[in-house]
Amino acid sequence: MTRTMSTSPPPDNERATKRPKLEHLTSDSFKNGVFLAPMVRSGALPTRLMALKHGASLVWGPEVVDKAILRAERVVDPVTGVISYNGKTRAIFTTHPIERPYLIYQIGSASPELAVQAAKTVVQDVSGVDLNCGCPKPFSTHAGMGAALLTNPDLLCDILTALRRELPPHVTVSAKIRLLPSQDDTKRLVERIVRTGVSALTVHCRTRNMRPREAALIERLREIVEFVEGLGVDIPVVANGDCQGWEDAKRVKKITGASSVMIATAAEANPSCFSSTPLQDLGATLIPSYLRLCRYIDNHWALTKFCISQFRGARKDVTKDETNDLKARIIKSKGFDELTDLIGNSSGEADFVEIADIIRSRRPRPLLVDSEAEKTLQSVSPATEEGGSSDDDGPFVATPPDRPNPEPPTSRAPLGPSSDTRIPLPAIITGSDMLTPTPTPKPLFPFGS
Ligand SMILES: Cc1cc2nc3c(=O)[nH]c(=O)nc-3n(C[C@H](O)[C@H](O)[C@H](O)COP(=O)(O)O)c2cc1C
Repeated sequence: MTRTMSTSPPPDNERATKRPKLEHLTSDSFKNGVFLAPMVRSGALPTRLMALKHGASLVWGPEVVDKAILRAERVVDPVTGVISYNGKTRAIFTTHPIERPYLIYQIGSASPELAVQAAKTVVQDVSGVDLNCGCPKPFSTHAGMGAALLTNPDLLCDILTALRRELPPHVTVSAKIRLLPSQDDTKRLVERIVRTGVSALTVHCRTRNMRPREAALIERLREIVEFVEGLGVDIPVVANGDCQGWEDAKRVKKITGASSVMIATAAEANPSCFSSTPLQDLGATLIPSYLRLCRYIDNHWALTKFCISQFRGARKDVTKDETNDLKARIIKSKGFDELTDLIGNSSGEADFVEIADIIRSRRPRPLLVDSEAEKTLQSVSPATEEGGSSDDDGPFVATPPDRPNPEPPTSRAPLGPSSDTRIPLPAIITGSDMLTPTPTPKPLFPFGS
């Protein structure tokens, strides 16, 4: 099979005929969007690509502890373009140039110097750097990282100030915090953070001691958003907590007044939740194409299975038992080759090319609150503002009608050439390298949807 995929940007003359795109993120990029939250394990590269395909405005990578990335070796797969930061026994962080314009890299740190070094290690592959100030796991807090920073605002702000000072201006710096028990303390902390020069601030609307299952306190955010507006700093506040998808993001935005909304758990269950028409019957739609994508980008099998085990979505034509059986079968499989009846013999290249094309042709999609505002915004669409025609811009707000299985097993499509120079990536979820904090693990079984 001849590979048609190119990971290089289009030639300059081709680009000149298209509307100019912003080459880097600014504070404005964090406004009016719906974002994929940072998620250890679940926020892996294929999930981020799927989220972007289905309309996520920006995607956060999983938290990586500063020291872990400093020891990693950067390796590029010459066939797929996948970039892996490999530790001794596992890939610490994996990305692809196609997501770079939308990718925020999240750091776990308790040291301005290490945070800066860590950010500089990956800066060529990301558009923004975010500081995790919310992880409540002892692994993180014992080392003074994550939620421990909430009660050490001097250090928190020193890290952000150092990142802003030392990173190139085109790379955004942002922070993700949790609410403090008192509203006044939260506002005091927020004021200090937004004065460090950050481009955005995400607030996970739970306190450090709240469990993920407890309802997020999103109603507390409006006062904080208005407080930030009153400071006159024009820093977008991003609401995080219990948002179920694109439509629900409008509700969250309305309640909180936040600039944008970030989604974790619902996107872990269905990365197409960013679409106005999220995929249903995931066993027949998302899962086969996700598997093919994972095969193409050489996503580690254990990680692939873990992410699929988390998928849950609305069902229309497929029963719950059928979905559970499918997932159980995938979990038992030892690799992609055992699933050819489901994903065909495809190398997955076609799926990747399709996703890459959709991501490349994206246009900004404002998060709208009501239909009147929608009409107004449509009449001054961002594409028009940028000076281009929107005729050739396919609507990416709706999920492309994924076929149940675009490549039937009978197609006998040959495998794409595998690259000898590919570095086999050991398990990302085990190994002796420093582990990043992992949220409460969910059992692989049962697969209720
Ligand atoms: C599987 C999983 C992994 C997570 N990993 C991170 C992380 O690496 N960094 C972080 O700041 N938050 C992490 N979180 C927290 C989420 O980003 C988010 O703040 C939280 O889940 C609330 O959003 P939700 O109500 O939409 O789930 C994780 C959450 C989940 C479910």
